[in-house]
Amino acid sequence: MGFVVMVNVIGLGYIGLPTALMMASHGVAVVGTDCEPTLIETLRAGRTTFKEEGLDELFAAAVKEGIVFTTEYQVCDTYIISVPTPYEKLSKQIDPSYVVAAVKSVLEVAPNAATLVIESTVSPNTIDRFVRPVVAETGRTDVHLAHAPERIIPGNMVYELKHNNRTVGADDSEVAERVKELYASFCQAEISITDIRTAEMTKVVENTFRDINIAFANELTKICRVGGMDVHEVIRIANKHPRVNILNPGPGVGGHCISIDPWFLVGDYPETANFIRLARHTNDSMPEWVLGRAFDVMRECHITDSNRVGIYGITYKEDVDDVRESPTLQMLASMERHLVADPCRVYDPWVERDIVPGQVHTMEEFLDGLEMVIVMVGHSQIKSHPELFGNRVLLDTRNVLGDGPNIYKL
Ligand SMILES: NC(=O)c1ccc[n+]([C@@H]2O[C@H](COP(=O)([O-])OP(=O)(O)OC[C@H]3O[C@@H](n4cnc5c(N)ncnc54)[C@H](O)[C@@H]3O)[C@@H](O)[C@H]2O)c1
Repeated sequence: MGFVVMVNVIGLGYIGLPTALMMASHGVAVVGTDCEPTLIETLRAGRTTFKEEGLDELFAAAVKEGIVFTTEYQVCDTYIISVPTPYEKLSKQIDPSYVVAAVKSVLEVAPNAATLVIESTVSPNTIDRFVRPVVAETGRTDVHLAHAPERIIPGNMVYELKHNNRTVGADDSEVAERVKELYASFCQAEISITDIRTAEMTKVVENTFRDINIAFANELTKICRVGGMDVHEVIRIANKHPRVNILNPGPGVGGHCISIDPWFLVGDYPETANFIRLARHTNDSMPEWVLGRAFDVMRECHITDSNRVGIYGITYKEDVDDVRESPTLQMLASMERHLVADPCRVYDPWVERDIVPGQVHTMEEFLDGLEMVIVMVGHSQIKSHPELFGNRVLLDTRNVLGDGPNIYKL
């Protein structure tokens, strides 16, 4: 394919921006559109909008190839829609409003025979239930729909965009092949073609698989704590079995994917998705459980002043700046519910903007006067470096600091 195709990527967040940059730097004519004017201004000023390994270099390459950023929707062959898909807190079902709004806006400008690729994660049937009716309302029978869910992990996005296998769901094989060819401009891995509903389901199932397996590890942690066993040693040895691979336990699950997508299945199949619901509740219980564990460690170490206990890490995983749904934010909310009066001191080297009360911006300021640190995120800064915390008591919820007389685990 000699890439004259013009692609309009709609939504330039954690997923849309690297995707747009990747395509542009591989010879596709790309215009990136976002409804947020300040985000567009930042990109136009030559700056990326979040921290990610290799993103600045990719940005420079895409700018060199002529990528354009705008708040306007473009007239072009292919649209890639990468807008948020939260869930409704009560029903647990997908909130499709961002996708629907983006599709409506695109249809106002899309030329004859344009292809709309929904890249946002959606629950199975979302495109049938919410997107097709919007297309039908306009009387358009010429546009094509496809679904190409994204699997990349923050922290390794640039590599994974190129090397992860992908899925393309479409109504007919000709459209699927065209979309596949577009992604193959940069993706060196296998691209499976299927129908739209199967593509929707596989993405949600992948994240649900992860959530359930993390929940298993977290439940083992609770069992081992009650039974007086070291869960990490149990998992290490159990994983020597050739067909066992237990994941790492932790302080909870955050981010925009694993903590949200399984709810779509619970919301749509409430009678059937029992195991999935339980896994979600198990992982959601962890931040509060960590709080209880922190109080136990304080008692054991005779630490009576909770103002001398700080929290390291706000992001939902290591070496990213994304704080959405993070276990730390969940734990702080739990403290608020328990009427803990003073804001806890919190520090995260990846988070420069002020997110929570009590947040400080240097390690020095953070550690000053603290007797104990709850390590909620295993950023590279501290991984295998307990000495950075001096001789303070450490509750290492990520098992990244090694062993020591002052290091407590979940
Ligand atoms: N973040 C991840 O790690 C990840 C991984 C895989 C899949 N996903 C999925 O990708 C999708 C996008 O997630 P994200 O993390 O990039 O979200 P995000 O919030 O970082 O970015 C979404 C962007 O869309 C813009 N937007 C919203 N409505 C718009 C509209 N109508 N027109 C133009 N722009 C609009 C917003 O301003 C925002 O910049 C979600 O469905 C998510 O589940 C995310």
